[in-house]
Amino acid sequence: MKQCPGLFLFCRSGYEKDCAAEIQAIANRLAYTGYCKTTPESGYVTFFTTDFQTAKSLYSAIDFSQLLFARQWFLIFSYLDDLPEKDRLKPIMESIEQMTNFYSPLNQLVIQQANMEGKDNLQRFITSFSHPLRNALDQQNIITESQQHQENFLQLCFTSAKQVYIGYLPKGNHWPGGIPRLKIPETAPSRSYLKLEEAFVRFTSNNRSHYLQPQMTATDLGAAPGGWSWLLIQNHLKVTAVDNGPLNPKLLESGLCKHVMHDAFRYDPGYPNDWLICDIVDKPMRVMDLINHWLEHRWCQYTIFNLKLPMQQRYKFIEQEVYPWLESLQQDQLISRWKGKHLYHDRHEVTFMLE
Ligand SMILES: C[S@@+](CC[C@H](N)C(=O)[O-])C[C@H]1O[C@@H](n2cnc3c(N)ncnc32)[C@H](O)[C@@H]1O
Repeated sequence: MKQCPGLFLFCRSGYEKDCAAEIQAIANRLAYTGYCKTTPESGYVTFFTTDFQTAKSLYSAIDFSQLLFARQWFLIFSYLDDLPEKDRLKPIMESIEQMTNFYSPLNQLVIQQANMEGKDNLQRFITSFSHPLRNALDQQNIITESQQHQENFLQLCFTSAKQVYIGYLPKGNHWPGGIPRLKIPETAPSRSYLKLEEAFVRFTSNNRSHYLQPQMTATDLGAAPGGWSWLLIQNHLKVTAVDNGPLNPKLLESGLCKHVMHDAFRYDPGYPNDWLICDIVDKPMRVMDLINHWLEHRWCQYTIFNLKLPMQQRYKFIEQEVYPWLESLQQDQLISRWKGKHLYHDRHEVTFMLE
């Protein structure tokens, strides 16, 4: 068993370098020493520190919501890289028992693949292994019931049937791998619905009803076929859907949606809206200019939009272009705060909410 204090970060497969660049930059800024290890297309990044105290302290120093590319994370205790095929349980239980000296209490088990878009046969192994593991944890009373609402998670993350990271996620709202379980209504006009739903779940959490109130007004730039507008209409907002393309007729039947066939970059709403949502596929700087324009004219109070990231060094672009822009919006008091995340339902884009 290798004890390896550090952080384990889940990201989209293919975004390991961006996730690593981000955590390294933040650790450097906070004056923590450590280094990243990445495997291409693995869907995760590890950041190793000198000792557990440092890992814990770094974990506490970082506000997870400020990490753009990491979807979920946990504190690593150990890495077992040569589990014996005949008895994997023994070394895993030994490691978990040792871990309780550093990280406790443990209220719930999460056992999963490191790469959430990973292999079916590894998933089958994990499903079958989780039964004896849960029994062993029960027998030794390692998992205790939470006294509070927030739970502390024992995390097992397999990279293969022979290799596992064991760790701890304190007081988390745990979505394994950072993947929320969301349902798409059968009536939704497009799967893009899920992107906006995840953005609301992530960014407004238990305050959702404050942000989505009946009779609020919204403009949806690049609305067709209409998944995003549909979500707002389901919440009884009045939506102006701007797109030169055809809109799903169900939106218009609702009586809450008006379709405007217009170039979104030249559209003037004529009055302030509560919301601007924008899912246009275009150059990120162009979309930023568009959002800027709306904020300068005070045409919206809240906005959710995404920025496509076609470039090689995505974190560099975020650090050099997007963050300074967001800072300037705050300085000019055009927004009070922002949140951003590379959502599970995002592909090659990141989503922001500004207010
Ligand atoms: C990814 S789709 C939007 C999907 C939508 N959010 C949904 O939930 O169904 C992008 C849309 O932006 C529209 N679009 C792109 N450039 C535009 C422009 N300059 N003006 C208006 N619409 C534009 C496209 O016609 C396309 O329908």
